[in-house]
Amino acid sequence: MNVLLIEDEKITRISLANNIRKAGYDVDTADDGEQGLQLFKKQSYDVVITDLRLPKVNGMDIVKYVKEHCQDCEVIVITAHATVTTAIEAIKLGAYDYVTKPFSPDKIIGMLEKISQFRSIIDENKSLKEKLKAYEHKNIIGKSPEMRTLLKTIHTIATHEYTVLIQGESGTGKEVVARAIHDCSHRKDKPFIAINCAAIPEPLLESELFGHEKGSFSGAIQRHLGHFERANGGTFFIDDIDDLPEPLQVKLLRVLQERELFRVGGSEIIKVDVRIICATKVRLKDQVDKGLFRGDLYYRLNIIPLIIPPLRNRLEDIPDLIEHFLSQRNSRDKLEYFTKNVYKKFLNYHWPGNVRELENIVERVIALSDINKSSDLLFDGASDDIEVNQPYEDDFPGLKEYITQKENEVIQWALKLSKYNISKAAQLLRVPRSTLRSKLEKHELEQLVE
Ligand SMILES: Nc1ncnc2c1ncn2[C@@H]1O[C@H](COP(=O)(O)OP(=O)(O)OP(=O)(O)O)[C@@H](O)[C@H]1O
Ligand SMILES: [Mg+2]
Repeated sequence: MNVLLIEDEKITRISLANNIRKAGYDVDTADDGEQGLQLFKKQSYDVVITDLRLPKVNGMDIVKYVKEHCQDCEVIVITAHATVTTAIEAIKLGAYDYVTKPFSPDKIIGMLEKISQFRSIIDENKSLKEKLKAYEHKNIIGKSPEMRTLLKTIHTIATHEYTVLIQGESGTGKEVVARAIHDCSHRKDKPFIAINCAAIPEPLLESELFGHEKGSFSGAIQRHLGHFERANGGTFFIDDIDDLPEPLQVKLLRVLQERELFRVGGSEIIKVDVRIICATKVRLKDQVDKGLFRGDLYYRLNIIPLIIPPLRNRLEDIPDLIEHFLSQRNSRDKLEYFTKNVYKKFLNYHWPGNVRELENIVERVIALSDINKSSDLLFDGASDDIEVNQPYEDDFPGLKEYITQKENEVIQWALKLSKYNISKAAQLLRVPRSTLRSKLEKHELEQLVE
């Protein structure tokens, strides 16, 4: 830390400066206010220690000047007993602290140590924030730990050439993530081409992917470039890869291995330089196990697996997403409709359509809010399909777990009613006391009655 000491009393100045140096800080000295300010203007200091009563420019003006010109620079004022009230004024102006004369140099050294510690925490915080910022991506909203990890991975893998397999439920943002990988890669100025295998009729899919030569089939009136060739130099995103028919899986494997292809009806080898990103809503490994997807292709695709968690596992991202979707549509003023009650509803919902479903709700609110001003009414209409606690397949409990859970609940209920008297609780539950005892052990509830 760099310290500037402004003190007109020679002995105090010299001895304090020596002590500060001994404590490991750099220090410049000035013997009047004017010289002090000149030094301050020339160099940057972390701390200014100034006497309040000084020739030429007084200490108070120094505090004012320093705090006006450098928010981060701390000021310690030295004052005689008679001017303590002025010292307090100085603190109001932003000074860090004051010492009254006579003082022990240790007192000032202690303050410098505190300032130094505080600075290192702030610096650390700043660099952590910068690191986090470096991973941010303008189109991917989400500060939940899951999304932060995902963003970090995106940035790490973007610069590599490996094939990426993105898995996630419908509407979780697989395409957004694929685009983010492209945007962060050195291919960013080249094309990003996306195709959805489920949306293209099977007979057309081959020529869409690989292109065809003129006359290769009836209707092929001219040469057609496939998406692989159009994406050359850039990224090719293949969505719903599990829907790719087996013969095309073989062809894709060849592209991945050899980086070359034949157009439909063509014999010329076409070299392609494309990064491939695939996505699927299903667990592709299960499809492989069931014999529905080629294992060799799966392992080629799954070099970097990315799993996007469903929205219900990162509910804390909802407020930021809502703000983002409203801002995108210049409708931030509609934020008022997302009341506490609405959020409560959102937090209990399972979001089967994930982020896309949330985006649709935001859109409906924007559209309907002009007609209907009451937030509660609006949401009754806007989210009819939101049933609180709607069961979702993944979360569906097995019968055993369900019964155990209910047993636990009813036991706790009986205990509460009987004021934790085990005999009374057993009576309420209509079971022998010994049965209740063993149940309490099973549910680890014994401590409630002991
Ligand atoms: N983290 C996110 N931040 C901002 N917007 C998001 C995010 N995730 C998804 N979206 C938005 O939600 C919508 C759906 O995203 P996307 O199309 O990428 O999902 P998907 O997983 O590819 O869906 P599908 O499985 O139906 O193909 C898009 O409008 C996208 O912009
Ligand atoms: Mg998609």
